[in-house]
Amino acid sequence: MRASVRKYTSQPVSDELLNSLLEEALHTQTMGNLQLYSVVVTRDEEKKSILAPAHFSQPMVMGAPVVLTFCADFRRTTDWALNRDAHPGYDNLISFQNAATDALLFCQRFCDLAEAKGLGLCFLGTTIYNSQQIVEALELPQLTFPVATITLGWPAEQPKPSDRLPLEAIVHHETYAPYTPERIDKFYSHKESLEENKRFVEINAKETLAQVFTDIRYTAEANETFSVNMLEAMRRQGFLNGNMTTKKVGRPEMLECDVVRFQNKKDRWVAFVGLLNGRPYEIFTGILDDDEGIMVPKSVSDGYIIRRVLRDGSRRYDFQFTNKRGYKIVIEGLSERFNPEYWNYAKLISGILRYGMPLDNVISLVSSLQLDSDNMNTWVSGVAKALKRYIAPASDAEANVSDSEEEND
Ligand SMILES: Cc1cc2nc3c(=O)[nH]c(=O)nc-3n(C[C@H](O)[C@H](O)[C@H](O)COP(=O)(O)O)c2cc1C
Repeated sequence: MRASVRKYTSQPVSDELLNSLLEEALHTQTMGNLQLYSVVVTRDEEKKSILAPAHFSQPMVMGAPVVLTFCADFRRTTDWALNRDAHPGYDNLISFQNAATDALLFCQRFCDLAEAKGLGLCFLGTTIYNSQQIVEALELPQLTFPVATITLGWPAEQPKPSDRLPLEAIVHHETYAPYTPERIDKFYSHKESLEENKRFVEINAKETLAQVFTDIRYTAEANETFSVNMLEAMRRQGFLNGNMTTKKVGRPEMLECDVVRFQNKKDRWVAFVGLLNGRPYEIFTGILDDDEGIMVPKSVSDGYIIRRVLRDGSRRYDFQFTNKRGYKIVIEGLSERFNPEYWNYAKLISGILRYGMPLDNVISLVSSLQLDSDNMNTWVSGVAKALKRYIAPASDAEANVSDSEEEND
């Protein structure tokens, strides 16, 4: 049975053997038979020492005679198209995913063939954590991206095969069977009972094996940082040019809307947060002033913001809700009902929301606005507060609403 090998003898892996294995792996399945992958072979010690830090200096990089970096590659296909009077459109996420799939399949096929020949190897997932460093070290052009690294050599160790979950834990028949607490116990108890894993828990001063993974090995914080790095590297490599992330999403005439009330000092405020696919798309907010006609019954917590284009081409935003008796009520001209200064700032903030800036960045931006009047600063904190509920998990969102400054509806 196979196992990852992390120690290698000094015996070289010949070019002849390596090429014959890669050659055979070329026959793996590939999208449209386009072979959307490349592999960079690193043997040179100096080059390996440049790569090593990107892999957190895992000793296998320097210790293996060969390091292979498998790359998603739409560069070659794009150049082919450009040279043949064709118009490639592969600077987008789906092309990245297709090329990454191709590269990983090719890599896995290579691994199977190499292990069958008695070679030892280890897969390095660190490739996607520090991809920008690898791009630079290997001088990868746009529309290529490193997705897997294999350290390869003749084994200097014979590790014993590691445990696996039982097949039953992996296979679902016809439909997906939920993992009830009983099924989790059944599938994970063997892994948790292994001496090495018990030791792992103890050394790390944790209570469960799962905590070793969540709190130490693969933390949310690290994953989020690596995600940001990876997205930035993908953007630099040209894979996010044709995506929606930087484009405005068309606004439907009617947007679902949450009504968020809050109290700031003595004033009662209201925010109408228009939502597109559950994410804030625009926000109207100001003092809840009955005299001016914003008379939203306390029981109303949602509705629709409707955009109307008037005859003179100007736009008006109305709020529609359904009252307790099931009648639709429309409050016309949300934009005109609030202080024009609030409205102008709201337009800017809505613009940022529409173009997809991450919500926590929008909130930091709004919170950092330095404005002259007390009222405007109150407005700013109200907007930040209204938006915060969309990044907090449900329980936190509820906590936000009931904090001391919130109105108790
Ligand atoms: C996506 C992925 C990332 C991995 N990253 C690393 C790594 O960075 N370092 C390492 O030593 N092993 C790495 N491995 C190897 C796994 O640790 C190994 O496959 C797993 O523990 C099971 O052990 P086995 O391959 O000996 O059966 C990775 C494997 C995969 C599939």
